[in-house]
Amino acid sequence: MDFALLLLSLWALAGTASLQASGTTGSCPERLLGEERRRTCPRPCKADRDCGNKRQCLCDGQCGLSCVAPGRTCPWPLPPSDNSTARLLSPTHSFSALLEVRCNPGFALPNGLDATIRRCQGDRQWSGDEPICTGTESPTAHAAQTCPLPDEVINTFSIQGSAAIGTSIRYSCLSGADIVGSSENFCQDNQTWQYPHPICQKVYCLPPREVEQGYVVAVQKTEYEVGFDIHYLCKKNFLLDGPQKVTCLSNGSWSALPPYCRARCLIPAERSRVEIGGVKRWPFDVTDAMVPHGENVTFYCKHPHKQCSFSATQTCFDGKLRPSTCYLEPTWLQYKLFPHRLVSEIEACEPGDVE
Ligand SMILES: *[C@@H]1O[C@H](CO)[C@@H](O)[C@H](O)[C@H]1NC(C)=O
Ligand SMILES: *[C@@H]1O[C@H](CO)[C@@H](O)[C@H](O)[C@H]1NC(C)=O
Ligand SMILES: *[C@@H]1O[C@H](CO)[C@@H](O)[C@H](O)[C@H]1NC(C)=O
Repeated sequence: MDFALLLLSLWALAGTASLQASGTTGSCPERLLGEERRRTCPRPCKADRDCGNKRQCLCDGQCGLSCVAPGRTCPWPLPPSDNSTARLLSPTHSFSALLEVRCNPGFALPNGLDATIRRCQGDRQWSGDEPICTGTESPTAHAAQTCPLPDEVINTFSIQGSAAIGTSIRYSCLSGADIVGSSENFCQDNQTWQYPHPICQKVYCLPPREVEQGYVVAVQKTEYEVGFDIHYLCKKNFLLDGPQKVTCLSNGSWSALPPYCRARCLIPAERSRVEIGGVKRWPFDVTDAMVPHGENVTFYCKHPHKQCSFSATQTCFDGKLRPSTCYLEPTWLQYKLFPHRLVSEIEACEPGDVE
């Protein structure tokens, strides 16, 4: 873990404070338990530091912000059920994973819907009561001319349109979070909705990969809110290759891959001049005899038959710079006794001399 943490400036501190104000408390409901009888809520919290070091302060549905161990899992697979089929909508069955329970054809839930979505809670239970699908010939389905809209749906979404048979509604999340599922629904003749109601889920970005030899100018977190910026700096003598900053996008991706911090290269010549940035120089005259990543170094090579020199260029890439294959390092004697006859000091070949 050489992923360094830098709190460089007031800017970073201000960024964190506003993040906590707008991000975590804004969209998580206050702890409010009504219908969910089985529910035992984990310890309430306001920030990660209110929880032990194995737990994080996360939104746990109707429990509100609670100390949750995000690795804990809910029961899966579920025991098979006669009248319904359960399906995981998330890659795992751990905290905040989603599960769809769909009634088999000819069966429906007591509220008339044929499917429901359950969320894996901090208490390792799937949210809501055990769904019970019964045959749709039940007498409850005949009374009204509308499809049912449970309180839970009404409290979560702003709903446009009508729930009458043959019409459709559109959902948008009251909390501003993203809709998971269909954002439009149609009330069918048998007073059931065509699709299960969607749910609202806050979008996060996972931590981007670490940048070797670099610093991140942000507080390290296990997940980042949409709009969060991570700025990068490289250690001294390393060059940033890639974006200086990445932003968490509304689809949970980062705006770009993180950059690389590229190392300088040692000039692989001592007793010849080389050309760097258009200037012919002795390597010992260059600071540390090194060039930055991406710099071109031109070596002077001797013509195989004539007493003239031609040049060949190599580029420094992340600490690696090889001399051109035609380059021969002069011996110490050549360098000391005949400095004017060094290949880098003799005349350049005519354009026609070099194949
Ligand atoms: C399945 O449906 C039947 C008929 O409606 C009902 O009597 C029974 O209780 C249901 N079983 C389960 C496990 O929901
Ligand atoms: C997220 O959105 C960006 C920009 O709109 C797009 O380039 C990227 O592919 C999307 N990522 C995913 C996983 O959909
Ligand atoms: C090095 O040479 C390449 C190819 O000629 C060129 O594209 C690049 O801009 C040069 N880099 C520098 C730092 O001059």
